[in-house]
Amino acid sequence: MKTIFSGIQPSGTLTIGNYLGAMKHFVDLQDENNCYFCIVDEHAITVPQDRLKLRENIRSLAALYLASGIDSDKSTLFIQSEVSAHTQLGWMMQSISYIGELERMTQFKDKTNGKEAVSSSLLTYPPLMAADILLYSTDIVPVGDDQKQHLELTRNLAQRFNNKFNDIFTIPEVSIPEVGARIMSLQEPTKKMSKSDVNVKASIFMLDDEKKIEKKIKSAVTDSEGIVTFDKENKPGISNLLTIHAICTGQSIKQLVERYDGKGYGEFKQDTADAVIKTLKPIQDRYYQLVESQELDDILDKGAEKANFAATKMLVKAKKAMGL
Ligand code: ADP
Ligand code: NA
Repeated sequence: MKTIFSGIQPSGTLTIGNYLGAMKHFVDLQDENNCYFCIVDEHAITVPQDRLKLRENIRSLAALYLASGIDSDKSTLFIQSEVSAHTQLGWMMQSISYIGELERMTQFKDKTNGKEAVSSSLLTYPPLMAADILLYSTDIVPVGDDQKQHLELTRNLAQRFNNKFNDIFTIPEVSIPEVGARIMSLQEPTKKMSKSDVNVKASIFMLDDEKKIEKKIKSAVTDSEGIVTFDKENKPGISNLLTIHAICTGQSIKQLVERYDGKGYGEFKQDTADAVIKTLKPIQDRYYQLVESQELDDILDKGAEKANFAATKMLVKAKKAMGL
């Protein structure tokens, strides 16, 4: 049995990028593994958040995890800030990180580009992420493509700590899906879809209703060629829709390309919208039952307790190793 850890930021309503690239895979992993799924609220505050909105997003994310199929009997679902070992080990990880290597992270460069006021935690986000993962002796971290570089840093920090102090950390492997690892923006298909994109037309949110989904997909930026083929370089818009369509229906991209041979974008987009609606509808129904329930609070309490138990054990080892 392997230990799995992954986190999602409560920084807005999840997009189908988060779902198809990450959450959907979490659900498949939980039967055979020891899984920790975290609501990484401390990562979310590296950029300004509205207090009430953040509270709402934390709860909404918890409900979406469960509505997507995370089973609290099989997996540990918890809020990062309710397990204080994360920031404590995060500080220790910062102490063995170099400013230079943190400044080289592409996400840091992207998020600070053109900004005047940048929080220092935006720079030290990756050592906190390393702590999140290392606290649970994680073997595998299922994430989208954008987290590859952070995972590489986590592995380096774990190795550095093990060599310098004591061999206590498991070196985690990253697991990135073959299809869907990078769902692109519907409006700028060379950019990844993100829940914090200011252009709401660029993302399909997991709680969008049928009309919105249809409208967004129909107005997705494509090209004027009129041929449904997969070519990320020259046809990023159509390739992105093919990826979304393929995962939602369980068909391969090759099958879809054959099916839409000689057909226009109109029909292809309509069918893609229908496939997304069909995928999200049952999740949305369960979400609205869960989001206001007491059951949700109970699950998060139980999750925090289980996570605290495991994390504290590792924190004690790490402190001892460092001489704290
Ligand atoms: P976001 O960038 O949307 O705020 P997070 O940083 O909270 O998302 O990431 C949560 C998970 O979703 C991570 O595993 C991340 O790799 C994955 N993810 C985020 N955006 C995408 C995307 N566009 N396509 C595929 N996976 C994604
Ligand atoms: Na991200």
